[in-house]
Order: sequence, then C-alpha cells, then structure tokens
Amino acid sequence: MNENKLQIKNISCRVNDTQILKNISFEIESGKVVVLMGPNGAGKSTISNVLMGNPKYEVTSGTIMLNGEDITDLPVNEKAKKGLFMSFQSPVEISGITMTNFLRTSYNSLKNTNIQLGEFMKLLKTNMAELGLDSKFRSRFVNSGFSGGEKKRAELLQLMLFEPKYVILDEIDSGLDVDGIKLVSEMLNNILKKRKMGVLIITHYNKILEYIKPDSVIVLKNGEISQTGGIELAHKILESGFNKQ
Ligand SMILES: Nc1ncnc2c1ncn2[C@@H]1O[C@H](COP(=O)(O)OP(=O)(O)OP(=O)(O)O)[C@@H](O)[C@H]1O
Ligand SMILES: [Mg+2]
Repeated sequence: MNENKLQIKNISCRVNDTQILKNISFEIESGKVVVLMGPNGAGKSTISNVLMGNPKYEVTSGTIMLNGEDITDLPVNEKAKKGLFMSFQSPVEISGITMTNFLRTSYNSLKNTNIQLGEFMKLLKTNMAELGLDSKFRSRFVNSGFSGGEKKRAELLQLMLFEPKYVILDEIDSGLDVDGIKLVSEMLNNILKKRKMGVLIITHYNKILEYIKPDSVIVLKNGEISQTGGIELAHKILESGFNKQ
C-alpha cells in the first residue's frame, strides 16, 4: 500500500558536485512521528531540503512519493500545496513584509482560497494565543528581530494555520529554553491529536522526546542511514554519543 505515507526511496543527492546523501530510504506514515538524529554535518538538513525541493540540492537518484504520488521533481510551492511543510533550522527574516500579510498570502495560496481579512485575523488571534505569541507579532516583519524562541513559535504558527499532511521540523527545539521546548512539544502534540499528520523531527536533544513519543528513530551518519530503531535507540545515543553505537 502506497497511500497515506511520505516515502523516501533510494535518494542520493549532491550539492556543488559534492555527494551528500547516499541511497536514503525511509518512510513516514500519516499519523506517525519519525525522529531523525545524527552528528553535525551528517546530512539531516539536506534531507529536509531535498524533501522540500530546494533547487540547490541536486537529486541524482531515487524518488519521493506523497500518498502514492511521485513528487520528486515538483517545485517547492507545488509540494507545499500537496501538503508538505518544513520548518527551517534557521528561519529567514523578510523585512518589509508583516507576519499577517505573509501568513494570509501563504494561506490563500496553499489553500487556493481568498479568506477575508476579518476571518483570517480571528484564526490568527486564536492560534497565536495558543502559542503564547503576543498579538504585536502580527504587525512585525517576518522573523525580523525575533528571538530564537519566537522564530520557532512563528514556524509552529504556520504549521497550525496551513494544516499540512506531512511536516518536517528541523531542530524546532534548538535555541529554546526548557519552558519553550515544553510549550512547543505540547502544541505539537495538540496539533497531532486534532489532525492526522506524518511528522519528521530532526533533533539533537532528548528534552523534546520527553514529551513527544516517536514511532521510529533513524540515525544518519556521513549521508547514510546507519541505524534504525525505536525510542530506546534515541536514548542510547543521547547517553553515549553516536560513536559508541
Ligand atoms: N548548500 C550547500 N553548499 C555546500 N555544502 C552543503 C550545502 N548544504 C549542505 N552542505 C554540506 O552537506 C553536509 C551535510 O549538511 P547538513 O546541513 O545536511 O547537516 P546536518 O546533519 O543538518 O548538521 P547539523 O546537525 O549541524 O544541522 C555538510 O558537510 C554541509 O557542509
Ligand atoms: Mg541541520
């Protein structure tokens, strides 16, 4: 059965003639949480960039299937419309564009609709309140001058508004204080309860795993999958490092 899964099949990729990913295969079932771990430079963010279709990353072999449909060569905006969402390890600042404008434009484009401003503001306010984001963020420029934690919450706000089918969270927990990690994890759990999504969490820390229980854990090393397992694999790595496995 190919339905209701995001499948990564034998993906290899290079950037500027350097091979980075080698024959990566795994899948994220709808409703399941997969955790991706690995040392710095292993290729984790590269996987998210390739999944999302960043043109800098040249896919040299393999396919990406979303609910049975080959999306390997689709541009980023098409992938987003099909329900793929990625939160960036380092979200970009867009000065001159307010959060409200950015979010409403993206919302309309992704959902192929034209939501009235009043209706959108209501939706925005509810979601921002849930995330503990002050209402003044609505009129601030996208990520501009946001603290690390505020940027991560702004990413989650997009997740809540756009309601994607598959979500890649690249180090959503980095730069957050302990309360921030708890809040972000709880928000994510709430979203997962309300909506069936497949989630890929890229992380270096065990704090987030106290709140979010993954269905599987994948370890990447030098652009290849070196291990797969359950939560116990994550705990082992966080206790004794990547080299002792
Ligand atoms: N656009 C790029 N240009 C050149 N090299 C790149 C590019 N993107 C990734 N790489 C290289 O690919 C390798 C994997 O990088 P990647 O960002 O995927 O690692 P990572 O596993 O996410 O690491 P971290 O845990 O530090 O975030 C690194 O050696 C990196 O320098
Ligand atoms: Mg990374």
